[in-house]
Amino acid sequence: MMKKHVAANVSWIGYLDYELKQFHGSEYSLHHGSSQNAYLIEEGKTVLMDTVWMPHEFDFLANLKEVMHGDLHKIDYIVANHGEVDHSGSLPLLMQEIPDTPIYCTAAAVQSLEGQYGKLGWNFHVVKTGDELDIGNGKKLVFIEMRMLHWPDSMATFLTGDNILFSMDAFGQHYCCPEMFNDRADQNVMWDEALKYYVNIVNPFAPVLKAKLAELKKMNLPVSMICPSHGVIWRDNPMQIVEAYEKWCSADNREDQVVIAYDTMWNGTEKIAHAIAEEIGRQSPSTRILVYNIADSDKNDVVAEIFKARAVAVGSPTEINDVLSSVSGWLTYVKSMKFKNKRGGAFGCYGWGGGASKVIQNRLTEAGFTVIPETVDANWNPKEEDLAKVPAFVQDLLNDGYKA
Ligand code: FEO
Repeated sequence: MMKKHVAANVSWIGYLDYELKQFHGSEYSLHHGSSQNAYLIEEGKTVLMDTVWMPHEFDFLANLKEVMHGDLHKIDYIVANHGEVDHSGSLPLLMQEIPDTPIYCTAAAVQSLEGQYGKLGWNFHVVKTGDELDIGNGKKLVFIEMRMLHWPDSMATFLTGDNILFSMDAFGQHYCCPEMFNDRADQNVMWDEALKYYVNIVNPFAPVLKAKLAELKKMNLPVSMICPSHGVIWRDNPMQIVEAYEKWCSADNREDQVVIAYDTMWNGTEKIAHAIAEEIGRQSPSTRILVYNIADSDKNDVVAEIFKARAVAVGSPTEINDVLSSVSGWLTYVKSMKFKNKRGGAFGCYGWGGGASKVIQNRLTEAGFTVIPETVDANWNPKEEDLAKVPAFVQDLLNDGYKA
């Protein structure tokens, strides 16, 4: 039986995905697995807080039955904080066994759940921010809509008395941590994964997050523990992850770092990339320089580094008046991150007809970067006169008023 004690009468009954390598299809790379955290609250009433991903539905149900001593009808309420399949995927199987059990969720979650699984006549109870559910023994669940963090249906739930915030995806990490709690986790892995999760999942909604964090502060909830839906439970100084989110969603989270990202066909664009890296080192020795061949690099990790960076230089050879497909797809992903307050520059080689740098400049502008007018373009392989453009390019790229 997999039921791990969290606090008081709250247990973890989720799924540890040790070997999972990809998430959201192939959109999100996992280097340390992941977990789907479902919870059970056993007070006067028994509450199931979310479920796990559909591939694990039979394991989840078998475990839940064992935990409930064979009687799933002992579950009085289900809370569905979010309709995404990694948390709701076991609901259809579960609801076949207990079809009348009330499901507490947002109005948008009714749409997302019915949209995915069909109109199955589930007993939905729609809740809004501030609505409460009495679960006996003097304790209540207080619901908090978390619209667009990161789906329209997202919600958090606060358990009074024990002061636990079930935050859903917010404050989570794709990190399979059997030790379960933040004070027992590998600190480097935990913070790297928390930042990567924030950048790739939450940062596109940073303005919404900022307003929500202010709203949560006003609610003055005495939070003693934060239980997200992925990764570690924040029990030691739980507000440290809230403070990190406040910093990450602020207007200026930049570090003294520049990312150079490119693809190359016959190594000419690569030579320019390396020349830019060396010049940054000459002009600004304190700046951390990261160079990636886009085609061979993990886009989720690279955008986490761009998030920290002051500037990005993007290069591609021209192919049929455009950039390489690897660069084009990558720029689409970068745009979806909605980065702010960063400079961008373009470079690349071309043979008979150019154009890649212009395409990159336009795409970076669309993605919210402040694009410098200088480019480093080379007809065929970069020659001395082409590389002579690098110092002015770097000077403008770093001319952002950055102060450490
Ligand atoms: Fe972990 Fe948005 O689901």
